[in-house]
Amino acid sequence: MMKELRKIVIPEFIFGFNSRKLIGSYAKNLGAEKVLIVTDEGVINSGWVKEITESLTEVDIDYHVFSDIFPNPRDIDVMVGADVFLAQDCNFIVAIGGGSPMDCAKGIAIVATNGGHIIDYEGVDSVPYPGPPLICIPTTSGTSADVSQFAIILNTMRLVKIAIISKKVVPDLALIDPELLTTMDDYLTACTGMDALTHAIEAYVSNASSSFTDLHALEAIRLVSNDLISLYRDRSNEEALSNMMLASLHAGIAFSNASLGGVHAMAHSLGGLFDLPHGECNSILLEHVIEHNFEFAKARYLNIAEAFGVKSPSKETLLEAIRGMRMTLGIKGQIDLRVKPDEIQKLAEFSLRDPCMVTNPKVMSKADVIQIFERVLCYESK
Ligand SMILES: [Fe+2]
Repeated sequence: MMKELRKIVIPEFIFGFNSRKLIGSYAKNLGAEKVLIVTDEGVINSGWVKEITESLTEVDIDYHVFSDIFPNPRDIDVMVGADVFLAQDCNFIVAIGGGSPMDCAKGIAIVATNGGHIIDYEGVDSVPYPGPPLICIPTTSGTSADVSQFAIILNTMRLVKIAIISKKVVPDLALIDPELLTTMDDYLTACTGMDALTHAIEAYVSNASSSFTDLHALEAIRLVSNDLISLYRDRSNEEALSNMMLASLHAGIAFSNASLGGVHAMAHSLGGLFDLPHGECNSILLEHVIEHNFEFAKARYLNIAEAFGVKSPSKETLLEAIRGMRMTLGIKGQIDLRVKPDEIQKLAEFSLRDPCMVTNPKVMSKADVIQIFERVLCYESK
């Protein structure tokens, strides 16, 4: 039962094969005259952007493609994108891609409307005015930026990812088409799928969880457990395509409204400092943060184990199941970076300042965070 007052934000979305083909008519209905398409080279090469531009042309909507985006989208990419949006006289944004183009598009929308620098909008509810209409079309099954209140941008001065959490960055519409997952490679499928699993687990044990977000989180965990490995092995499996896209959607609805925890706080810090894939960072950290939190949210973790299909749920069997999935997906348990002691200190400080840390079920001290980083990173003592 939801006893307390809760606010839940979920955008309009259309889920299903071929939903991407509705872009022209929806953009027209939402008042698009000139669209900035925010994407990256990989998505352009997969042919999806061409379909989008053709659909816009069919309904006489002009467009400009912006694809100068790094895999961990940088503040400078956002600032250039906002200049392009204004210089091209656009009034509408369509983001197509994984988390990077979608987060960058959210940043462009903020700066194009509110001015200033994207870093000024770090934190919770710091965006004064909503941006131009935004339609998101995800091409991975993990980030969920297409339904979330989150935008994650790399601060290039401090080399840390900042989180912008605001209702103003929720897209106006998401076209969620499982067919777009067919062009992911093996490692992207693995990392984004583990990101979705981490979203669901962290939302479920979050201090801000609710019965509404719990439902979505547990369903996402169940779907990932059933279908991620199938999708990893075969991207033509329609059931796995549909179920993993659905898993990402459920996990996104859960975490957007319940927030995240220690895994994401540490992953933002690690991925920002060393420019590593977000899902890889989460996959490596997840088991260690569960170990830290387990006794503090034991009943919740046992429910997670059950949803994951673990027989005889316990801390050990849950960790074993998650480790088994990570290894089957070819994701290592450690990163060989030869990290220096002062870098470990920096990683820990950034992690503790990340807004996701606030909702971790058990407080993490600087020593706790350092201990986990030392376990997962090859460490140089001098
Ligand atoms: Fe994530």
